[in-house]
Amino acid sequence: MLRSALITASRSANCRDLAERTPLVRPVVDRFVAGPTTGDAIAVARELAADRLISLDHLGEDTHSRAQAGQAVESYRTLLRRLADEGLGERAEVSVKLSALGQALPGDGGKIALANTWRICEAAAAAGTMVTVDMEDHTTTDSTLSIVQALRADFRDTGTVLQAHLKRTEGDCADLAGPNSRIRLCKGAYDEPASVAYRAKSDVDASYVRCLKVLMSGQGHPMVATHDSRLLEIAMRLADQAGRSRDDYELQMLYGVRPALQAELARNGLRLRVYLPYGTEWYPYFMRRLGERPANLTFFLRSLTGRR
Ligand code: FDA
Repeated sequence: MLRSALITASRSANCRDLAERTPLVRPVVDRFVAGPTTGDAIAVARELAADRLISLDHLGEDTHSRAQAGQAVESYRTLLRRLADEGLGERAEVSVKLSALGQALPGDGGKIALANTWRICEAAAAAGTMVTVDMEDHTTTDSTLSIVQALRADFRDTGTVLQAHLKRTEGDCADLAGPNSRIRLCKGAYDEPASVAYRAKSDVDASYVRCLKVLMSGQGHPMVATHDSRLLEIAMRLADQAGRSRDDYELQMLYGVRPALQAELARNGLRLRVYLPYGTEWYPYFMRRLGERPANLTFFLRSLTGRR
């Protein structure tokens, strides 16, 4: 209920305006976001790269113009040149949201998003790294998977995200667990109807385990994106059972979420990738993070009202 309300608020222009105009909100946002500029992202990535991998996300979604989508492409291409200059190409990939790259534009949105993402993949290849395509709400899943399939014809290492809360996902995992695939499995951050998604936590978790079994016994590179200790243990056990070494899969977490656990996993030599967002369009991303943990909301509301 609370999560649904926050996801609705993530689309409200008035709430966004209030949050963006309140300076005290900034320190709370900074916990989850590297900062507004490419330089901020590079600085945090450089620090993290000492003992972990990174996936950088230039924040933005629901783009309503071709020009805005083009700007997002240029931001990624600038970022990728900077990663190459810093020698971070091997440690840092990029994550993209297709709605920021034109997918939702009327008419040929799918084609525009494919062409834009292709240019980002081209820059990523030149920088010695790769792209993972985020997954948004269920109305976009088919379009996203077909765009990823088209990209993989030229850029074989393009990865994508699947969401365990969707009932279709176990089947998608089976379809996509072939050689060289890179699938990032997460629970799912969008408020989806019961017709397409599991709504109870226990059902989402059970689906996550079924999907993990398919991916770990498949031929691709599973990317286990969760902060849930129980699922992490199960993932590591399934990887062992499937004969995978620590390089044959990776654990992934969001910047700012369970930092002590992240440090411990990295110290223990596990392959851990941190999803690191940056940019000025932080509001919808940040609201989804609030929805995942009520304690975050209390902290945020205190900052809005000036009470710390
Ligand atoms: P769960 O929500 O059950 O959390 C487990 C524990 O982790 C909690 O008990 C708490 O301790 C901690 N925790 C989780 N979230 C927290 C938060 N925000 N703040 C503080 N503590 C928190 N979703 C999507 O729909 N499309 C996508 O493309 C992606 N991409 C993506 C990439 C990566 C690398 C990650 C880690 C996650 C995503 N997600 C996503 C988000 C994902 O779907 C999910 O909403 C969050 O990861 C939270 O779910 P958990 O699996 O962590 O479990």
